[in-house]
Amino acid sequence: MNISYKLLDTSKRGSLPSGDLPFGALRTDHMFVADYHDGEWHDPRIVPYGPFEILPGAMCLHYGQTLFEGIKAFPHPDGEIYLFRGDENIKRLNHSARIMLMPEVPAELQMEGMMRLLDIERNWCPKEHESSMYVRPFMFATQDSLGVKASASYTYCVMLSPSGPYYKGGFSKALRLLITKQYHRAVSGGTGSSKCGGNYGASLRAQAYAATKGCSQVLYLDAANKYIEEVGTMNHYHVMKDGTFIIPEFNDSILRSVTSLSVLELGQAGIIKARTEHIALDDFLAGLKSGDIIEAGGFGTAAVVSPVGTYLLEDGTEITVGDGGIGKHSRDLYTYYSGIQTGRQAAPQGWLLKVPRYV
Ligand SMILES: Cc1ncc(COP(=O)(O)O)c(C=O)c1O
Repeated sequence: MNISYKLLDTSKRGSLPSGDLPFGALRTDHMFVADYHDGEWHDPRIVPYGPFEILPGAMCLHYGQTLFEGIKAFPHPDGEIYLFRGDENIKRLNHSARIMLMPEVPAELQMEGMMRLLDIERNWCPKEHESSMYVRPFMFATQDSLGVKASASYTYCVMLSPSGPYYKGGFSKALRLLITKQYHRAVSGGTGSSKCGGNYGASLRAQAYAATKGCSQVLYLDAANKYIEEVGTMNHYHVMKDGTFIIPEFNDSILRSVTSLSVLELGQAGIIKARTEHIALDDFLAGLKSGDIIEAGGFGTAAVVSPVGTYLLEDGTEITVGDGGIGKHSRDLYTYYSGIQTGRQAAPQGWLLKVPRYV
């Protein structure tokens, strides 16, 4: 693939600040960009990070044809940088593209774009334990047109954000989640299994509502308010008394989390016990009350594992999970999984790809 480079001269490049890094706030010097028009991808290039020029009629601004991904690359003790399960995110980006009638981005274009960008920006990769380079691929519609239809042109971009661990030094506090029957994230036949921007814009109202009740996030149910689906930015899990992790069965209103898939693969490999299930809310609440469910939480790239200590129902009922703190199974899984990511624990075949040294 012929990727062109227009790089800042070294004197104009920034550098990592010292001290603790926030999650997702910093940018690096460059980004990877490619444009789609006339049925093909054109001009893959690495250029200085900066504004895009788009016209006011660009269709992403009006009809929301946008999507994104979130991946992490980790510094390892051998001094190299490894991309964690990027191939799964590449597939999911194309799944989202199919749902949003956007063009698929060839897997090689995505992978090489990310790898070359990570290579150019390797000095930005934080070295601290559990820090990572957060990789954000995204795509948006650029055709200047006010008709409601799929755009004929798009831009695909990858930007990077050197980030500290979501939970510095491990977890400190279990989350409080609101179980709402008033708001829904997605419905069957909708866009819930895609990472389109609209799913996130539409979730902000429920998130703000949860905040008024002292909850940090919402646990969404299906549109009939019968089954557990997922959290606004995470898949959901609970742990049974025998230590089995249970994740709601994937359907077209749940995002197929790469973290959940990985946990299920660890289950298949016999390292932990994990499976999916169609989980009725009533059974879940009964399990929490009886003590059959001993832990619960969320899975996602940003935080990996986010334990939940309390669920709040809209009638004001509070239900505590276990003793309300962080359970052993969640903590152990977090330690094991982040150990794989950071090269301190043997990784299953193909989970980590070394960033090549191209230049
Ligand atoms: C709605 C939603 N569900 C689940 C997840 C977790 O997915 P992953 O593990 O691939 O980050 C995310 C975050 O990407 C998300 O936004």
